[in-house]
Amino acid sequence: MSTVFTGISQLHTVSKVGTIEDAAFVVDDGQIAWVGSAKEAPEADERVDLGGRAVLPGWVDSHSHLVFDGDRAAEFEARMAGKGYAAGGIAVTMEATRNAGEKRLQELVAQRVAQAQAGGTTCMETKTGYGLDVESEELAARIAKEHVDEVTFLGAHLVPPGADSEEYVNLVVGDMLDAVAPHVGWIDVFCERGAFNYEQSLRVLKAGQERGLGVRVHGNQLGEGPGVGLAVELGAASVDHVNYLSEEDFEALANSETVATALPACDLSTRQELAPVRRLLDAGAHVAIASNCNPGTSYTSSMNFCVTTAVLQQKLSLDEAIHAATTGGARALRRHDVGEGKDAKGRPAKGTLAIGAAADFQVLDTPHAIDLAYRPGMVTTWRTYIGGKQVA
Ligand code: NIG
Repeated sequence: MSTVFTGISQLHTVSKVGTIEDAAFVVDDGQIAWVGSAKEAPEADERVDLGGRAVLPGWVDSHSHLVFDGDRAAEFEARMAGKGYAAGGIAVTMEATRNAGEKRLQELVAQRVAQAQAGGTTCMETKTGYGLDVESEELAARIAKEHVDEVTFLGAHLVPPGADSEEYVNLVVGDMLDAVAPHVGWIDVFCERGAFNYEQSLRVLKAGQERGLGVRVHGNQLGEGPGVGLAVELGAASVDHVNYLSEEDFEALANSETVATALPACDLSTRQELAPVRRLLDAGAHVAIASNCNPGTSYTSSMNFCVTTAVLQQKLSLDEAIHAATTGGARALRRHDVGEGKDAKGRPAKGTLAIGAAADFQVLDTPHAIDLAYRPGMVTTWRTYIGGKQVA
C-alpha cells in the first residue's frame, strides 16, 4: 500500500536533497519511496493532503530517562531560588522508582512515550538508572525495551546512599550487568564529581564493551572533567551534556566520530551554562540535541522547545538545529543514513527523509518551520507518523 502526501508548504528532508517548497512525497512499505515537487508527484494507492503545512523528519531524542516515578518539583523550586544542582537528588527518584511496582512504571513510561510522540518524536533512547539495585535495574531495562527504540544501562548513575563506591562498581559490572544485558544495547556512566570518577567510569564502560554494548557517557555537565576524553578514548557513540569543555575537549570531539549531545532544556532547568554547540559545530564536531527528559534536571520531552532554545540562545541556524535534533540524534544512536537511506546495519535510517529511510515524520501546524523560533512556544506538532502510520 503506497501513500502520496501532498499539501506540503516546506519539506525538510534532512538529506542531500535539502528543503523543497510546495512538495510531495510517497511512502511505500513504511519507507520513503519518492520526494519532490508537488507538480511531479506520482500516483499512489492513497492520497493524504496535509493542508499547506511544513513537514520534517520526526525528532530523534537520543537521551532520556523515562523509567521513574515521582517528581522533584520541590528540588526544582529550591534551585530557582538559588540552590545549586547536585547529583544527590537522583536518590530521591531511586526511592520512588523502587517503590512503584511494574504495572505503574509500565503505565508511566507508556504515557511519556505517547507525550513525546505527540511532540513530534519518532525515535527515542531511554536509560535505566533510577533502580540502582539488580532487580530494579533489570525491571527498568525490560520495561524500557518494550516502549522505546534504544535502551541504555545506566546502573552507574549514582552510588546509592550508604553503599561503598568500589563495591557498588563491582555490582554494576557484575550481577547488574548480567541481569540487564539481554534488554539493552548501550552502557552509560555519569562521569562527574559526586558520581563516578575516571577509573570507575572506565571500568564500567569496558565491562559493557566486553558484553558487546555500545558506549555513551554523561560528561562535563557540572564542570570540566574527564568525561569527553574518556568517551573519545573508547570510541563512544556520544558524550552528553558537554557544558564545560577544555581546548583539548573541543579538539578531541572535532577529530572523532563521538557525537557531542547538547541538552538545552536541562541546561536551562539547572541554570548551567548552555552547551557551546555553536563552537562545536564550527570546530567540525558532530552535534546532537536531545531532551534529557527526567524528573531531576529536565522534566520535559519537548524537542520543539530544545530546537527553539538552540536557535534563539545557542546561535544555531534553524537548519543546523533541525539537523542536530534529527540526523544528529540518529548518529548518536548509530541509526543515521550511511547511504541509500540505510543505517550501518542496513535498517531504514532515522532522522532523514532520504529515499529508503524510515517514513518517520512530523507535520508542524504552520507553513514554515522557522516559526519554531520566530514564534517561540506557539508552534505545535500537528501530526506524527512512524513507518508511514499516524501515531499522534
Ligand atoms: O542527565 N546527569 C545525570 N543524570 C540526569 C539527571 C538525573 C537526576 O538528577 O535525576 C541528567 O541530567
